[in-house]
Amino acid sequence: MLKDKIKSGVIYLDNAATSFPKPECVIDAVVNYMTQIGANPGRSGHKLSIEAGQIVFKVRESIAALFKIKNPMNVIFTSNATEALNIAIKGIMQEGDHVITTSMEHNSTIRPLHELEKEALISLAIVQADRNGIIDPKKIKEAITVRTKSVVVNHASNVLGCIQPIREIGKICKENGVIFIVDCAQSAGVVPIDINRDNIGILAFAGHKGLYGPTGTGGMVIADDFDHKKIKPLKYGGTGSLSDKIEQPDFLPDRFESGTLNVAGLSGLLAGSQYIQKKPGGIKGIYLHKNELQKYFIKQAEMQIPGFTCYSSSNLPSVGVIAFRLNNISVSDVAQILSDKYEIMCRQGLHCSPLAHQTIGTFPEGTLRFGFGIFNTKEEIDTAVHALKSISEGN
Ligand SMILES: Cc1ncc(COP(=O)(O)O)c(C=O)c1O
Repeated sequence: MLKDKIKSGVIYLDNAATSFPKPECVIDAVVNYMTQIGANPGRSGHKLSIEAGQIVFKVRESIAALFKIKNPMNVIFTSNATEALNIAIKGIMQEGDHVITTSMEHNSTIRPLHELEKEALISLAIVQADRNGIIDPKKIKEAITVRTKSVVVNHASNVLGCIQPIREIGKICKENGVIFIVDCAQSAGVVPIDINRDNIGILAFAGHKGLYGPTGTGGMVIADDFDHKKIKPLKYGGTGSLSDKIEQPDFLPDRFESGTLNVAGLSGLLAGSQYIQKKPGGIKGIYLHKNELQKYFIKQAEMQIPGFTCYSSSNLPSVGVIAFRLNNISVSDVAQILSDKYEIMCRQGLHCSPLAHQTIGTFPEGTLRFGFGIFNTKEEIDTAVHALKSISEGN
């Protein structure tokens, strides 16, 4: 019954903003919680509250398995990747710290860092990526000083789709005793990530993109051997634990999870996370599918669309996000025509990443962006290429 209710007739290529449609099992899981459970986890002793708590624990386990950490309690749920990045960044940095980040960051990283810099709490080094958006790990190494506390890197670009060499950067962080914070908003569920292998201290993820959970889900994952007491909470309040004390609990996950969790969203996230991990071919299969669609789109567009300029390289591994423009037509006009006339949904502009657009020379107008998802097909790409060709030819 639900399947019939999922919107059809549109081509949704805005999966980098949030994925759509969600798998049916995600919708079923949300409906099941809303209609059959409904209770607040970790607060009361009745069986519905316990059932809600079991769902939340299962999502922790599923996310822990995804990023290869041992202790599910090191998975902290937040309302999105932005909140997780804010906890990590603001919670770790202290007066006098030096932080290294890159020119490919989303505003979710660069804004909290800039704020701390403005308050003269930290000094910031921004390592420049090349024109393909790739960071040379050597440049990170060169930027490290005796005061460097942390390196913050966006794993996969939300503008170009390219993937940073986080294993090499993580190794450098480990050798220099620097905390490695990685923004996996675009890569979680698309690229296999192993916190220990990549020497990540803290990772932020979005639940509503590549993990196919509902909007309003995301989280922070802390490495098993990382001392979480080094991170100051952003929020304080009720956790359902140690209710006799006015002190914030210092254990995980309660230290960072004040207030009622988004259990409806997390129920969907559990289903989404299990869905992608159990899908034939698993996450590797999703990665291959997205890369195939990316290469196909770039090839067809370059062959067929006059005035097509692509900024994403089809020779680099990608999470299926492509930045492009049609010469002489503003990106907003193209996006609007795609939506209104062709029912094709995409995003235009700066994608909350002004520095990335400066890096690739597309600031201030930005680009059009296609973000492919697991349900997109080559037929949909053919339709999109045809539509872009007509727009470019002025039809
Ligand atoms: C690279 C990157 N980081 C962070 C975010 C923020 O994610 P959220 O919307 O879940 O806060 C996004 C969202 O587009 C992103 O692409």
